[in-house]
Amino acid sequence: MLTAAGCGGGSLAGSPPPPPPPTDPDGRADLLLSQMTLDEKLQLVHGNLTTENGVGPRNSAGWVVGVPRLGIPDLLYADGSVGVGDTVGPATALPSSLASAASWDLDEAYKYGQVIGKELSAYGVNVNFGGNVNLSGREPRDGRTFETKGEDPILAGKITAAHLRAIQDHYVIAGVKHFAMNDQETARTQANAVIDERSARESDLLAFEIALKDSKAQSVMCAYDLMNGTFACGNSHLLTDILKGDFAFPGFVLSDAFATPSSVPAALAGLDQEQTGDYMFGGIWSSESLKAAIQNGDMPASQLDNMVHRILRAMYAAGVFDHPASVQPIDATGDAAIAQEAEEQGAVLLQNAGPQLPLNASNLKSVAVIGSHADVGVLSGGGSAQVFPVGGAALTLPPACPPYTPPPGGLACLNALQIFDPSSPLAAIRAKAPDANVVFNDGTDPTSAAALAASSDVAIVFESQWESEGMDLVDLTFANGQDAIVSAVAASNPHTIVVLESGGPQLMPWLANVSAVLEAWYPGQKGGDAIANVLFGSVNPSGKLPISFPASIADLPRPTIPIPDPPDSTAPFDVDYTVEGFNVGYKWFDAKGIQPLFPFGFGLSYTTFSISNLQLSPDAPVTNGFQVTFNLQNNGSVAGAEVAQVYLGFPAGTGEPPKRLVGWQKVLLQSGARQQVTITVDATDSSHPLSIWSTTSNGWVTPNGDYTVYVGNSSASRSLVTAGTFHVGS
Ligand code: BGC
Repeated sequence: MLTAAGCGGGSLAGSPPPPPPPTDPDGRADLLLSQMTLDEKLQLVHGNLTTENGVGPRNSAGWVVGVPRLGIPDLLYADGSVGVGDTVGPATALPSSLASAASWDLDEAYKYGQVIGKELSAYGVNVNFGGNVNLSGREPRDGRTFETKGEDPILAGKITAAHLRAIQDHYVIAGVKHFAMNDQETARTQANAVIDERSARESDLLAFEIALKDSKAQSVMCAYDLMNGTFACGNSHLLTDILKGDFAFPGFVLSDAFATPSSVPAALAGLDQEQTGDYMFGGIWSSESLKAAIQNGDMPASQLDNMVHRILRAMYAAGVFDHPASVQPIDATGDAAIAQEAEEQGAVLLQNAGPQLPLNASNLKSVAVIGSHADVGVLSGGGSAQVFPVGGAALTLPPACPPYTPPPGGLACLNALQIFDPSSPLAAIRAKAPDANVVFNDGTDPTSAAALAASSDVAIVFESQWESEGMDLVDLTFANGQDAIVSAVAASNPHTIVVLESGGPQLMPWLANVSAVLEAWYPGQKGGDAIANVLFGSVNPSGKLPISFPASIADLPRPTIPIPDPPDSTAPFDVDYTVEGFNVGYKWFDAKGIQPLFPFGFGLSYTTFSISNLQLSPDAPVTNGFQVTFNLQNNGSVAGAEVAQVYLGFPAGTGEPPKRLVGWQKVLLQSGARQQVTITVDATDSSHPLSIWSTTSNGWVTPNGDYTVYVGNSSASRSLVTAGTFHVGS
């Protein structure tokens, strides 16, 4: 029979022209799929270690072999939460993701993601294991807090989405992880997160939903832990009902490294690709066992087709086929500038009595700089997110794993190193105050640190706390007696400034005795310069906490981190998240009437702002959402940015926390300037701002009753004013 192709591409008189080739990702994926053999399909669902069988393209975190016959490229995977990770190559060390969230600025977050996307692509990587959107506020001691975006699902989801959009705009498949409830590292492969459906939907799962819907990221990494008794990577409720069903996620699910709990059951539950290798949990899943299952009828071939379809459509949707990554040098200079800007936008000024800051170099004759190796660099977080910085580490120290770090979770900590990025705060401070005598003390001896401080105009103490994947902090106290150093310095100099380099919240027993505190997080490749710019007022701080700082660990939902029982047991053990449910972070403190040390959303500036003329205009019908309009005024003598935050109180009897963040806007105002600001809260937004999860209707509903809208510059009630109320229902 003659085909259209056989006629040189023309059509036979009377016969319909051949359909044009599909141009949409699904159609293109199906066309390719129809040409693949069973073995080729199996090849795409199996992740290799890059060194597996002695071969592998280059250093990375994973590798899926392509099908050259059909033009399907290899997939090369690398971590990239805070810059390109693994040993892919020297990369720009960004400040921690939590610092990016502290900017509360989606444009700034997009730039942060661009650095990751550009550099992954320059290293030839086309899939990113990034996007950690676990809600660290549930367990602020979590050793991966620095990789997350904090405690609020909306802020975390939106910031993550901005990162992922930027990454995928560089034709690298972006992803979110670790789906879901991987909120502690301790014994993470055995931890069974126990949580009810509504709480999960309104907290951790909501962060994932927003991140995915707002970014269209094409991959989801399922987690090591169990959720309600079933391993996340074999959990059909999570992967199929919620992710692929309710969230309508069209991309593919890949397992965390070695986290595949089974073969056919996991595939049927919704896992599309195993990463990495075959041997976790007994090596049950492998392409060989899937092949046998298909051949003997234990798994329908259509299941494998769907898995492969999802992978291919993700590759098309992200541009992997059309824009193959080409290896080239990274733009280290340009990316370092973005790293510095991200830190300057994310550093949070927590205290400024006096005001002590900004420092005026012309008034300074002597400055003491103390502690945390501030003479050479700034600390970074450990584990798979670790970036090996451009220029090489300034200092590398052995890991400081806490006592409970049994393998396999603890392995990640034991393999980690404490890496200091090459950006010396001491040098940057010297450059800011060239006429002052700036002297460094290593901060290991309180007496000598205090003596130096006593003879200096100001003392700047750097306190740091290392954390890493594969461990949790035992408490939130700075290690190695650093608090005693701060106290000794503060006792000898009333102008003591503390700069914190931490993955997340820490306790500050010396707070009342120091004049200023700057939370610099893990500050990244240009952290020293960014910190000095803030201290000397070249940058006016505008970061706001994306996570509450508790006053005591006794105030947390779980005063101690759950461990297996007995501790050396390898059996699953419960981590009871029903204690706080969806009341994560500030919602917990609000609901319990507990005063945190510093509230979610808090951060000072070198100027002050005021809000006036508040007006609330509910849309018609009111269930569509509302707008809050107000005047924001900069009352000070320097330009600065304020983050106006909108919180919503739900009707009594709904069981919701006293207030939920539903919107915000970061506004830059010149000295004395006033601007009218409108913040729109759209009920149809991916964050479901006017809804609660109903287990009765298995969906989001807007309850009837009275709602109260608050506006202010932190979640603390004292910093909020009521914009008005509205009523839903008859
Ligand atoms: C981590 C993941 C990471 C993977 C590959 C795992 O240990 O949990 O976040 O992407 O390793 O490096």
